[in-house]
Amino acid sequence: MTTATALEARHLVKDFRGFRATNDVSLSVREGEIHAIIGPNGAGKTTLFNLLSGFLRPTSGEVALFGERIDTLPPHLIVRRGLSRSFQISSVFPSLTVRDNMLVALESPTNLPGQFWTPLSRLETLGPRADQILADVGLGDAPDRLAADLSHGEKRQLEIGISLTQDPRVLLLDEPTSGMGSEGVNRVIALVRQVARGRTVVLVEHNMSVVSELADRITVLQYGQVLASGRYDEVRRDPRVIEAYLGEEAHA
Ligand SMILES: Nc1ncnc2c1ncn2[C@@H]1O[C@H](COP(=O)(O)OP(=O)(O)OP(=O)(O)O)[C@@H](O)[C@H]1O
Ligand SMILES: [Mg+2]
Repeated sequence: MTTATALEARHLVKDFRGFRATNDVSLSVREGEIHAIIGPNGAGKTTLFNLLSGFLRPTSGEVALFGERIDTLPPHLIVRRGLSRSFQISSVFPSLTVRDNMLVALESPTNLPGQFWTPLSRLETLGPRADQILADVGLGDAPDRLAADLSHGEKRQLEIGISLTQDPRVLLLDEPTSGMGSEGVNRVIALVRQVARGRTVVLVEHNMSVVSELADRITVLQYGQVLASGRYDEVRRDPRVIEAYLGEEAHA
């Protein structure tokens, strides 16, 4: 693992009509690591993802990707610089098949600059790439199923596949295991490990056993602020973190 910084937030602030959802957040994600963001509901985790990926403009502060500022760029240009994200709420097209969802993502304007409408022949050349990504996310046997018919876990797999169409260097995943049973959770753990090969991954995650399995380093948010950040095994022993968030697990 290198020690280069992939993604950095510097003194980020986000106000919503006087409510400070992100309060002076600084964060450094190293290239190649899996970095988990944890914290109670409403701590500002999704808001931070929105700031990092350009879906929200910070009130103040900066975001840098591989040393270059991206906080003034629109989301699609940030994607082109190598950062892509999945959403907490499923973003697949339910009435399309699994494979067509992939093709739509592969032919999106971020992948084909300057082209809005894509000829069918071009779509066909994207087919092998779609099939490869589907195999990588464990949906290789489901290309013709309607996305609406997928299980919750399979939708999450498809979503991660959609994020991978951009071949991002940095991938942000917002609660990839939310609403899953233990089988789905285990599948997502394996999947995140797989997509993290050769990439930097930042994930928001509530399930602490997932965090302990996957994360090299973690950042704990509380009331929009960073409570602690560092190696997982160090941060989990931090008394402030135990008191604020990890209490039950630490005493278990
Ligand atoms: N667009 C918005 N307008 C006003 N307030 C917002 C907006 N987005 C988020 N907030 C508020 O900011 C705070 C942080 O929300 P956020 O969604 O970032 O939390 P979270 O840590 O992702 O929570 P969860 O674990 O429930 O997903 C919450 O109090 C929320 O109500
Ligand atoms: Mg959230």
